[in-house]
Amino acid sequence: MALAQQVGDILNAQINKELYSAYLYLTFADYYEERGLKGFANWYMIQVQEETAHAKILRRYLLDNGYAVKMGAIAQPDKTFASDVDPLKAGLEHEEYITASINDCYQAAYDAHDFRTMQLLDWFVKEQGEEETNASDMLKNMELFGSDPKGLFDLDREYQARTFVAPTMPM
Ligand code: FEO
Repeated sequence: MALAQQVGDILNAQINKELYSAYLYLTFADYYEERGLKGFANWYMIQVQEETAHAKILRRYLLDNGYAVKMGAIAQPDKTFASDVDPLKAGLEHEEYITASINDCYQAAYDAHDFRTMQLLDWFVKEQGEEETNASDMLKNMELFGSDPKGLFDLDREYQARTFVAPTMPM
């Protein structure tokens, strides 16, 4: 069964949002790099890879289901940061926005009785739970320990250890 047009279109739009997420996190990494916090910069560079992987999963799914993918322009992230906690706050806010956007995709699939796409999106729903938890944990850690130089140093060390594990296509 071919994808309903409105389901294909909303997933295509989601590709752009995932690539924007990658672009946004690149600016977070740039900020921390300039601050000399290379662990935080590393964490966000891994996040760039994660977001690109999310976009690639959606692209693959659309191509495999006969939808002609279109790549739109990626907006310029316009955030400016006055302190080390600001990107973390913006990150949590952004992931909450992406969760709502994935929920909208799910609603479109549900309305079209598209159970195959719902199965794909089950993976994204779960992934968004992890994304929000990670963003919230980083914010809490910074609020608890970030004002102490040793605490900040330890957090930076911890984030330096993050490595990329490519997610496998969920279906
Ligand atoms: Fe692709 Fe951070 O959600």
